[in-house]
Amino acid sequence: MTIYLNGSFLPIEEAKIPVLDRGFIFGDGVYEVIPVYSRRAFRLSEHLQRLQHSLNGIQLKNPHSESEWTNILNELIQRNVCEDQYLYLHITRGVAKRDHAFPNPPVPPTVFVMSNPLTTPSAELLKSGIACITVTDNRWLRCDIKAIALLPNVLLRQAAVAAGCAEAILIRDDEFMTEGAASNIFVVKNGTLLAPPKDNLMLPGITYDVILEIAAANGIPHEVRKVMKEEVFGADELLLTSSTKEVMAITTLDGKPVGNGKPGAMFAKLHPLYQTFKQEVMRK
Ligand code: PDD
Repeated sequence: MTIYLNGSFLPIEEAKIPVLDRGFIFGDGVYEVIPVYSRRAFRLSEHLQRLQHSLNGIQLKNPHSESEWTNILNELIQRNVCEDQYLYLHITRGVAKRDHAFPNPPVPPTVFVMSNPLTTPSAELLKSGIACITVTDNRWLRCDIKAIALLPNVLLRQAAVAAGCAEAILIRDDEFMTEGAASNIFVVKNGTLLAPPKDNLMLPGITYDVILEIAAANGIPHEVRKVMKEEVFGADELLLTSSTKEVMAITTLDGKPVGNGKPGAMFAKLHPLYQTFKQEVMRK
């Protein structure tokens, strides 16, 4: 497996980071996950825009222009074997003596990109749907930054796994739903798709945008607004989206069936539309 680190392409075994890297010491950095279909990065420009938003959020200068990023990522895609991959792109504030405040003068950032084979959900999982739990969203107030400091998300996801579930749905202030530990969540009620607004309390998902665009283009009723906890528990259907999971049905919540406990009509509509969109945009 070939990775990219600070200007070089090299085997992952040879890639080394100094222990004083601020990513390692403070979790001081941001990342992106970008799916690649038939060796083409999906929604690359949107992912790079979100990367810029994250970098702005932590006051770190983007080390590369959009065209430089495109060249690095395409080169890495070509150097790896699978047709379908997912890119993990990671930038930290670099290596400096341990001090919470930014290094002054600034030091070069650490730039790391790796590619892994993309395995989208199996036919079996698409048919059964997944199980989720609800948990309290105890994260900070800048969840719109795709920060590498993921300890809250790690603990929340682990709580789901410990309960035999695939994902945790996060409830903020005991009132409203924000997202999943590593995904966005949609509620379906009476044929309408409900999505929480892209604010500081959730990651603005690239897949989330695709789903809303598909809904708009296909006359599927949808509303972007605060989604209350009661609406999650009373949902006809719950859907999960992310770059690696695409769109999936959530069929049990806290051990109880969602709707009739099977993937519902909205999922049955959106999943093929997503696949068609992907094929048309990526594989022609
Ligand atoms: N996570 N919300 C959170 C907290 C996430 O970590 C992710 C994705 C999403 C979905 O965003 P997108 O559709 O752009 O992938 C929402 C990635 C896949 C990860 O950390 O591996």
